[in-house]
Amino acid sequence: MAKYLVTGGAGFIGSNIVGELVARGEDVVVFDDLSTGHEKNLEGFGSEIEFIKGDIRRSDEVRAAMRGIDHVLHQAALASVPRSIDDPVLVNDVNINGTLTVLEEAKNAGVKSLVYAASSSAYGETEQLPKTEDILPHPLSPYAVTKLVGEYYCSVYSQVYGLPTISMRYFNVFGPKQDPASQYAAVIPIFISHLLKGKAPTIYGDGKQSRDFTYVKNVVNANIAASKCGKASGQMINVACGGKYTLNELYSMLSRLIGVDIDPVYAETRPGDVKHSHADITMAEDLFDYSVEVPFEEGLKRTVDWYRKGA
Ligand SMILES: NC(=O)c1ccc[n+]([C@@H]2O[C@H](COP(=O)([O-])OP(=O)(O)OC[C@H]3O[C@@H](n4cnc5c(N)ncnc54)[C@H](O)[C@@H]3O)[C@@H](O)[C@H]2O)c1
Repeated sequence: MAKYLVTGGAGFIGSNIVGELVARGEDVVVFDDLSTGHEKNLEGFGSEIEFIKGDIRRSDEVRAAMRGIDHVLHQAALASVPRSIDDPVLVNDVNINGTLTVLEEAKNAGVKSLVYAASSSAYGETEQLPKTEDILPHPLSPYAVTKLVGEYYCSVYSQVYGLPTISMRYFNVFGPKQDPASQYAAVIPIFISHLLKGKAPTIYGDGKQSRDFTYVKNVVNANIAASKCGKASGQMINVACGGKYTLNELYSMLSRLIGVDIDPVYAETRPGDVKHSHADITMAEDLFDYSVEVPFEEGLKRTVDWYRKGA
């Protein structure tokens, strides 16, 4: 049994990771300031986890949480492109200074590994599709810059201090516990929550932009496998389903699953949005035997079911 620290563990991806770690009988400490996460995401785990309310920018708080930890799964961040456009200074502070603090305290505590939640947004617009990890990054938003800087810090902590780190570039993750209510909510929870209420959601642009939508269970599996893989330290690795769906296709699929026929509202493209995002996942497959356990369409079904239950 190992002891895990999940930063951002009350958030969407973090709480799904916590659930799987608990199911596997691991020791789990959750560290979260509840700025965008929710305690209700941790309901049902009870005394099996330790919850620490704290800020990743506070060294003293992070240091206390790091005691006795084997593996860090660093998910805490302000995770939204539009939010970073509204408030780049705050997003920079949390995502870059917070990540540096987590790395520094992980190094001082001598943890066995640190897995960092990186983002496909680092690539920006690329001619090459699917995107491979050797493409030169070209961030298009303050958020993407902050996530890329975090990767570079992970890489440098690996090279300079010998801290085993892996950066996982997630591609559009979706699934249960993703917040539909926030002003900065992601596209799938917004579409589902609108359609379930019989309301028309907004599609920014012509809807022909495409994404490699990734059901959260795949990301959870990748995190746990990477934490134990013992190789690839300092590397950036794509984590996705390896598929490509336009927003219009996504919209039709969700309308069919939910059983409604409502025209969406089209609006101006948003700044910072990438046109196409599609991952090559060979590196994750080779390095830690990653495979897609839940494909896109099955993930959509499970997600709609979860929101239908009124969670
Ligand atoms: N959801 C995606 O599609 C996606 C894609 C690429 C990368 N990521 C990355 O994955 C991670 C998790 O994203 P998510 O979608 O679960 O978002 P989320 O907002 O649900 O989770 C982030 C968590 O971090 C916590 N947090 C924020 N600032 C903090 C601080 N200063 N101190 C402590 N905790 C803090 C929040 O309260 C929240 O619980 C983020 O690092 C994000 O950048 C997400």
